[in-house]
Amino acid sequence: MSGLLEGKRLLITGVITDASLGFHAAKVAQEQGAKVVLTGFGRMSLVERIAKRLPEPAPVLELDVQNAEHLSTLADRVCEHVDGLDGVLHSIAFAPQTCLGAPFMDAPWQDVATALEISAYSYKSLAEAVLPLLGEGSSIVGMDFDARVAWPVYNWMGVSKAALESVNRYLARDLGPKGIRVNLVTAGPMKTMAAKSIPGFVELEEGWDGRAPLGWNSSDPTAVAKSVCAVLSDWLPATTGSMIWVDGGVHALGV
Ligand SMILES: NC(=O)c1ccc[n+]([C@@H]2O[C@H](COP(=O)([O-])OP(=O)(O)OC[C@H]3O[C@@H](n4cnc5c(N)ncnc54)[C@H](O)[C@@H]3O)[C@@H](O)[C@H]2O)c1
Repeated sequence: MSGLLEGKRLLITGVITDASLGFHAAKVAQEQGAKVVLTGFGRMSLVERIAKRLPEPAPVLELDVQNAEHLSTLADRVCEHVDGLDGVLHSIAFAPQTCLGAPFMDAPWQDVATALEISAYSYKSLAEAVLPLLGEGSSIVGMDFDARVAWPVYNWMGVSKAALESVNRYLARDLGPKGIRVNLVTAGPMKTMAAKSIPGFVELEEGWDGRAPLGWNSSDPTAVAKSVCAVLSDWLPATTGSMIWVDGGVHALGV
């Protein structure tokens, strides 16, 4: 039986540890037959080491979404490994400490600007950078945490996710006529490096399992990774501009 992503060429960003949601998406994608190229930021030797832990060691390209040269050369560098792309995963977020956990009112604009640039604007930057490689039927996916409401401690990262949700809709509007789908996977809390760096993450996570109609295991990224692969596949051909909740069902409840 052939895999869900047989023959698909995917660019997967945001791998820094083997807990990264990007790492697990890459793993499931390979298991489903995809050829994966990764991007990493900063600690490249670490990312290369993690890439070797995939079922099939994947090439790693350096990508700092704040670096114009990294972005402008990305398509050419991807083409050294694959002759085009069928899908892209944006799995990138960052906010300075003043923006997460610290009093919401105290974050200076420069820090907020950094959070917005890396966590929301970069979704557009990445899509733009690889657009020449994306054909009709391809799929762009981003990683979201439900930003329709205010959460404890999530603060300006929450605002950045709200911006990301809006960027998702505008990208869907503009890329739809080219046959490119753009969607977010809106995940429940998962224990990754980014999550652990949120002071008070436990406040977000606590009780999620008890509230979720399906239950929730924040240590098991399989559901999120499988759902990302489903959206990257050909099986949601009329879905774009959407948020696909993968949170055990918490978003559907009041209390
Ligand atoms: N962990 C959760 O609870 C959770 C829930 C919902 C959504 N998400 C989202 O999933 C995505 C991946 O996060 P994760 O939880 O796997 O954590 P992670 O720390 O493993 O991944 C975050 C990635 O962002 C990258 N990054 C930071 N600054 C960058 C820059 N300037 N250029 C390029 N890359 C940069 C880091 O290198 C890292 O690989 C993020 O968008 C995050 O907000 C996470």
